[in-house]
Amino acid sequence: MVPKRRRMRASAAVSSALPSGRFPGVALFLVERRMGRSRRAFLTRLALSKGFRVLDSYSSEVTHVVMERTSAEEAICWQECAATASPGRPHRGPHPALLDITWFTESMAAGQPVPVESRHRLEVAEPRTGPLSQDWIPPYACQRPTPLTHHNTPLSEALDILAEAAGFEGSEGRCLSFQRASAVLRALPCPVTSLRQLQGLPHFGEHSSRVVQELLEHGTCEEVERVRCSERYQTMKLFTQIFGVGVKTANRWYLEGLRTLDELQEQPQRLNRQQKAGLQHHQDLSTPVGRSDAEALQELVEAAVGQVLPGATVTLTGGFRRGKMQGHDVDFLITHPEEGQEAGLLPRVLDHLQSQGLVLYHQHHQSHLGDLTRLTQQKHTMDAFERSFCIFRLPQPPGAAEGEALGSWPIWRAVRVDLVVAPSSQFPFALLGWTGSQLFERELRRFSRKEKGLCLNSHGLFDPEKKTIFHVASEEDIFQHLGLEYLPPEQRNA
Ligand code: CTP
Ligand code: MN
Ligand code: MN
Repeated sequence: MVPKRRRMRASAAVSSALPSGRFPGVALFLVERRMGRSRRAFLTRLALSKGFRVLDSYSSEVTHVVMERTSAEEAICWQECAATASPGRPHRGPHPALLDITWFTESMAAGQPVPVESRHRLEVAEPRTGPLSQDWIPPYACQRPTPLTHHNTPLSEALDILAEAAGFEGSEGRCLSFQRASAVLRALPCPVTSLRQLQGLPHFGEHSSRVVQELLEHGTCEEVERVRCSERYQTMKLFTQIFGVGVKTANRWYLEGLRTLDELQEQPQRLNRQQKAGLQHHQDLSTPVGRSDAEALQELVEAAVGQVLPGATVTLTGGFRRGKMQGHDVDFLITHPEEGQEAGLLPRVLDHLQSQGLVLYHQHHQSHLGDLTRLTQQKHTMDAFERSFCIFRLPQPPGAAEGEALGSWPIWRAVRVDLVVAPSSQFPFALLGWTGSQLFERELRRFSRKEKGLCLNSHGLFDPEKKTIFHVASEEDIFQHLGLEYLPPEQRNA
């Protein structure tokens, strides 16, 4: 495992020789962008030879950040991104100085750090209103950190509604366009306050720009409100939220005139076993699952898995792994260090859980693992792992529900749980694939295909030209093979 550490622009391995250098209290970081890798390496050697301390990655120890051909706005933008990329390591003390290369060259000539003057500084006091250069917002969501909480929630939510509505109409392309524009907003280091800031941003076409413009000018967007209030959108949303109901089924019901859950309940012949279970537990299943419930479930699943196959591990994936506090379900990935031991594990685990009265519904899917080469080439989104989509009966601790009277708490609630089993050799790919977000996964696969000519899915990474498969030990290895900066799960909320 590569240790968890800041890897912002750290790919060019530049050594930080002397621990403190000749100038205590001065630690340089040279930003590779615009400067280029070889020039950065050259300047680093120069600074080291003069006794400066140069850090190869951006961390809380950096005191002077040096950039070349970079505007003040871009510098601030870079710093905010760099800070976002590693929330676990907040900057101690004051921010480092953001400096133009002139400070660096003068210091090298002087053989010591020259005093920082305002002409060296790249900071701007005014809030940013100019365009956010495309250079700083790369086009694929897997090339940039996307935190869970961000600066543009009202704007991204509006675009998310249009994306969802387009999906309901089967307009995959339009849905993706809105999703990508929304994801760009979520990756920005500051709130968008003027339309000018959208100039040059990837995925901002005429339509998405118009929506943002209306929101900035009027606080609401007429089209978004019309969609949100429409019978079509509301009904499709209601139906697709039922466990086991996709857009196709929801659309058919809508066209047949169905509008409410009661109407569906009255026509059980329309429903399969999964949908019946979904409808039966609809109230619970449409109530978000909290982190404490996810943790309680992990304990139950771990206990059952441990009974059935000692040594097997259970990893929380999905939205909770990305740091979400709530989810529509809880996703677990199960494996065993000894390849092959995990085969056929799920039915036994579910039997065990069922004997404890914890399972309300489950639907087992056998694995279709066979030839790995074939698996890594397959195009469809569904992977071939052994899995079960379940509804669990989760006991509730007293005081779980808000405002409940003493002695009347719900003693259990229904929770959607996804269990997936992967052989250990495929585990990093399965973990990456099941951590999401869904858009992040799509973008990662599109990036692999279009930019690297490689085929990525939850089973592996395949080079179709050389007919080779990459063997990896961790998610970090996969990012590295793709030439991407590692993004921890909390930064994959695209
Ligand atoms: N996934 C998948 N195959 C499926 C279903 C889901 O590979 N048949 C992956 C998705 O790509 C997603 C992850 O599993 O990245 C989690 O999916 P899901 O539970 O639907 O979404 P979350 O991101 O966990 O969101 P929520 O909190 O609402 O559950
Ligand atoms: Mn989930
Ligand atoms: Mn899920």
